Amino acid sequence: MRRKIIAGNWKMNKTPSETIKLINELKPLVVTEDADVVFCVPAISLTTAIEAAKGSNIEIGAENMYFEESGAFTGEIAPNMLTDIGVKYVIIGHSERREYFAESDVTVNKKVLKAFEHGITPIICCGESLTQREQGVTIDFIRQQIKIAFLNITADQAKTAVIAYEPIWAIGTGKVATTEQAQEVCKAIRDCIAEIYDDATAAAIRIQYGGSVTAASAAELFSQPDIDGGLVGGASLKPDFGKIVNYK
Ligand code: 13P
Repeated sequence: MRRKIIAGNWKMNKTPSETIKLINELKPLVVTEDADVVFCVPAISLTTAIEAAKGSNIEIGAENMYFEESGAFTGEIAPNMLTDIGVKYVIIGHSERREYFAESDVTVNKKVLKAFEHGITPIICCGESLTQREQGVTIDFIRQQIKIAFLNITADQAKTAVIAYEPIWAIGTGKVATTEQAQEVCKAIRDCIAEIYDDATAAAIRIQYGGSVTAASAAELFSQPDIDGGLVGGASLKPDFGKIVNYK
């Protein structure tokens, strides 16, 4: 039985001082025995967030990371900078990073490899555009994203990874995928993992749905057989996130 994982992606929101306030506000609301709870916050607020979350069930994740150890990469964050302060998770290949910062399946793969090398759990994002969905190539496209993201990743590593299926047309649009659409793709992702590795790896890996998740849609989505939680944007910045975490 896979443990649920419900993560907030704060994106480019909240200053460090607002971070302390929001974590203190959400802390009592996200208490649960049944799921891992992760807040992925802007890099500048990671240290503050880790401090603010101490003693709670909240783990802190980064929203991005570079794939080199150190050096002349102005503005980038190295993996050991994250582990040094206690960051446990990192979002990799979010569609906003692919679209605005030219991340590709290949850079995603490099980052996933690096995250595992440093013992950071990657939350690997995939998802199709509206055009791809309308042209009927969703599953083909996602399979390609997954196959490249997992190049040279061992089965033991893959078992601990988290994949976030986030249809681009559902992100920040209020247009949540139907439960059937979300389950269909999450199952296809699990089948793809079984194909790359084996059934045991596919059964272990956790797959989230993301895209306009709210307290109203969480319960139905998260009770699907292949959906192991969510990656939540807008609603993770509000008390509603407590309801999403405690969706049952
Ligand atoms: P929204 O929940 O705001 O649609 O964002 C989803 C997302 O991109 C999470 O990574």
